[in-house]
Amino acid sequence: MTKLIAGNWKMNGSLAANQALVQAMLEGLQGIEPKAEMALCAPSLYLAQMQSLLTGSAIAWGAQDVSAQEQGAFTGEISAAMLKDFACRYAIVGHSERRQYHAESDAAVASKAQRALAAGVTPIVCVGETLAERDANQTEAVVKRQLAAVIHAVAHCTSEIVVAYEPVWAIGTGKTATPEMAQAVHAVLRKQISAATQHPERVKILYGGSMNAANAASLLAQPDIDGGLIGGASLKAADFLQIVAAAQL
Ligand code: 13P
Repeated sequence: MTKLIAGNWKMNGSLAANQALVQAMLEGLQGIEPKAEMALCAPSLYLAQMQSLLTGSAIAWGAQDVSAQEQGAFTGEISAAMLKDFACRYAIVGHSERRQYHAESDAAVASKAQRALAAGVTPIVCVGETLAERDANQTEAVVKRQLAAVIHAVAHCTSEIVVAYEPVWAIGTGKTATPEMAQAVHAVLRKQISAATQHPERVKILYGGSMNAANAASLLAQPDIDGGLIGGASLKAADFLQIVAAAQL
């Protein structure tokens, strides 16, 4: 299946920096027919800018979160319909930083995925274990529990989600899961998805956690790794494009 390389800018950027970064990416893509799909998930405040910079290009854009509510008295929240208004293709849901710092439960993440799908936005559902959970041999149980909550909520729409396996201990730490470690978890997730939908071949499973220009090719060569969710390296045009190029192998 076509791989997806998605950048998660997290809380970085400015009007000027975003414009320079996107321009450098688009220039770097000139004359190239990328075989991978690409997306950039920016802070929501900049989605209008992303729309104006990226419309007509090969790069889609998305948000880093979405409300679990549809609309109404939820101060500070941004609805899936609002994301759709700015032509977002994707919304990351359940990133470990939101689970950790905003106490997002599996149930909340599942509602967010549901809201996104209902508005025509593809949720990128993040799952992943902490170091303590890995050390306690709970990796499989944790990621299966996290994904099961979403599958239960979205039911027959399971084939329309994107999943991202992001081991918490590998995020922003420079410690990447080895390709074999990542593949082992991806295989577990693939099996779970296959049991839940008649179209498992539509579901991309991305790896995220210190993926960079140097290690992308070996991770992306694994049979069940269908792309990457890139943090730090998506803030540098050359690095991001090298990962995109690695996805074409
Ligand atoms: P890093 O690539 O900076 O480790 O971040 C990964 C991530 O959290 C992407 O969502």
